Amino acid sequence: PIITVVSRDGTGRAVEMDTGTTLMEGLRDHGFDEVLAMCGGCCSCATCHVYVEPASTATEEEDALLALSAHRRDNSRLSCQITLAPDHDGLRVEIPPED
Ligand code: FES
Repeated sequence: PIITVVSRDGTGRAVEMDTGTTLMEGLRDHGFDEVLAMCGGCCSCATCHVYVEPASTATEEEDALLALSAHRRDNSRLSCQITLAPDHDGLRVEIPPED
C-alpha cells in the first residue's frame, strides 16, 4: 500500500510499503528514524507511537502503553501493531512529538 508519512518537521512523503510487514518496519525501512521502535515490535516500549488517519482501534495492550504518552490522541496507534494490507492504501501517518 501507498502510505503518506508526515515527519515531526511537518514534511510529508508518500512511500510504498510491503503488505504483510508492520507499519513500524515500513517506517524504519524508509528511513523515518524518528520512530525509535526500541523494543523491536514487542509492544512494550511505545516509541513507535504514530497518529493514523483514518483512525483504527488500538488493542488493549497498546492502549495501556499509549495511556503513558503525553501526546496521545484519539487516533494514536503503536505502529508495530499494524500489519499492512492492501486496504491500507491511502493511510496517512503522522509522527507525534517525542515523549
Ligand atoms: Fe516497541 Fe512498537 S516497537 S511498542
